[in-house]
Amino acid sequence: SNPKIVVVGSLNMDIVVETDVIPMVGETVLGQQAHFIPGGKGANQAVALARLGADVQMIGAVGTDSFGKDLLDALQREGIALDGIKQEDGVATGIAIIQLCQKDNRITVVPGANHRVLPSDVDRHESLIAAADLVLLQMEIPLPTVVQAARIAKRYGKTVILNPAPAQVLPEGLLAQIDYITPNKSELDVLAGNESQGQKDLEQSIAQMFAQGAKHVITTLGANGVAFAGNDTPLTTCPCYSVEVVDTTGAGDAFNAGLAYSIATGAKLADAANFASRVAALSVTKLGAQAGMPTLEEVMTKGMCLDEKVSD
Ligand code: RIB
Ligand code: NA
Repeated sequence: SNPKIVVVGSLNMDIVVETDVIPMVGETVLGQQAHFIPGGKGANQAVALARLGADVQMIGAVGTDSFGKDLLDALQREGIALDGIKQEDGVATGIAIIQLCQKDNRITVVPGANHRVLPSDVDRHESLIAAADLVLLQMEIPLPTVVQAARIAKRYGKTVILNPAPAQVLPEGLLAQIDYITPNKSELDVLAGNESQGQKDLEQSIAQMFAQGAKHVITTLGANGVAFAGNDTPLTTCPCYSVEVVDTTGAGDAFNAGLAYSIATGAKLADAANFASRVAALSVTKLGAQAGMPTLEEVMTKGMCLDEKVSD
């Protein structure tokens, strides 16, 4: 049967503006196109999971404005259950302004309703967590809510994955409730309190995470692939898949969804990391975060080559 996954997290309307140049201070430039595409790390991960075939419940919040309605409609079209998402009066739906320039992006998030996702909301939907196989968390909602979701999930013996994005120092005690933590390299450096870069620091930072109580650490290294390690798995690095990049927005979300899906179906860490890399690679070949998430069939059948070049 399909894995049951609860995502507790954010929903944003992504306002994506394609430009050739990023404006300087005080400057006005003309862009090419604007797109309104559903986003938010939580909702992106939920949509990617649904396209992979998971049974997805989401806990979150939007405003009563039209963006909120659009975001709920988008989730509903993917077959995601909305019981855990509240519509809050007097607050705007979260938005992200995304400037897409030469395939690089700059993102400003205004959380709005996402900041109204409270520990009491998690308590109210405890039964969703009790019925799930796995709970997937990010950090675009208040940290006390993340802590509460992890605590309840562990109380029911569920597997918990935390995508610590955007990076923030973790509250005391949170790591003990997390089975898999998935920082990218810069998030890893923030969590490990290690500001420098390079392979040596990667090992150091991951060791630091284990010293803090992490059980499995999976770190995406962009074009340099993915590194993972666990209590029972030595540090392993594998290359990423080489694809034609259109938009990297949401690639991390695709990766986390792939990992969660795979782990919920009982895969070993190395296989889950490989599956997650395929999901992420396919997601960057299309514009938009949620719009670009691949289906299980695409992940299983698209031919892709590993990118063996090593760069840093
Ligand atoms: O991870 C990508 C997401 O980050 C975007 O969809 C945007 O909404 C921001 O939350
Ligand atoms: Na994409």
